[in-house]
Amino acid sequence: MASASSLHRCWAEIDSAALRHNLAAVRAQLAAGVRVMAVVKANAYGHSVRLVVPTLSGHVEMFGVANVAEAREVRSLDAKTPIFILSPALPEERAEIVAAGFVASVSNVAEARAYGALSTGPRIPVHLAIDTGMGRVGVWAADAAACLREMLTVPGIEITGLASHFPVADEDAAFTREQIAHFLKIVGELKQLGLAQATVHLENSAGIIDFPTAAGDLVRPGLMLYGSAPLPEFQPRLRPVMTWKTRVSLVREVGPERGISYGRTFITEHPIARRHARRRLRRWLPAPPQWPRGRSPRPWPALPRARSRDHGPDHDRRDRALGR
Ligand SMILES: Cc1ncc(COP(=O)(O)O)c(C=O)c1O
Repeated sequence: MASASSLHRCWAEIDSAALRHNLAAVRAQLAAGVRVMAVVKANAYGHSVRLVVPTLSGHVEMFGVANVAEAREVRSLDAKTPIFILSPALPEERAEIVAAGFVASVSNVAEARAYGALSTGPRIPVHLAIDTGMGRVGVWAADAAACLREMLTVPGIEITGLASHFPVADEDAAFTREQIAHFLKIVGELKQLGLAQATVHLENSAGIIDFPTAAGDLVRPGLMLYGSAPLPEFQPRLRPVMTWKTRVSLVREVGPERGISYGRTFITEHPIARRHARRRLRRWLPAPPQWPRGRSPRPWPALPRARSRDHGPDHDRRDRALGR
């Protein structure tokens, strides 16, 4: 644990109350009954899956991860909540997906057959990904109906979900609106082919904020859970989950026209007196040796101000992800 006596010089604090607050902000956007898949891929966007998953367990209906190794870690922290693999699985990951009961997405009939071949009894649930503009995974929208017809003949699988994804929901409302309309039209057609019960999902954070009424049955927030709103007007409704802190080991006075650190990316214009240096330090992080030089000192306005240890009653509720 970091404390005044700790040798850690730089650490991140994860605020579980903020995480729950942001989840409530997600839910507040949605109609009753819309489920939430918390996207915890990439170590919960760097916030530590070991802190984030236990905080959200029992409060979300699904976790979303990038691959089987991540799914395994989430399962070790939460025995029950269903886990969805957001990316297409590698062939060698499929047996574990099936054995562990993770839910995979499929983009073509060959993938569906590969899962079907692993079935030893009950049908394996998979979601059909439909590409309506992301250009990453899924069957192309125009081919979705033909693909589904063929998939419905594959033994051993059950298509329990229909998914798509937004590439520019935070930047291009017209494109996204069209994408939603296209997806919902296809979903309507596919549901007629026998998928009336399939779970429909397509919305990331930007979608949840800007197009909440198109949320389908399930949404997939990542960014906004961690306190970052892709649309700035929503930012006041979120709280930052991570606070990155550092301990000051040396304060110096610096004269004018001195370069600070590698690359001399910051040159002092005026002398910096001790009292000003302290204030400035709050806005800078040290550049660890493994960082690219471009990370040499620069003012970092997005960085939340470090709060002092005895500031605020919620301090004791904070979990700390140390030195990761
Ligand atoms: C398929 C999918 N859905 C949802 C998300 C979450 O997106 P965001 O962090 O913008 O909410 C991601 C993140 O990369 C994703 O890949």
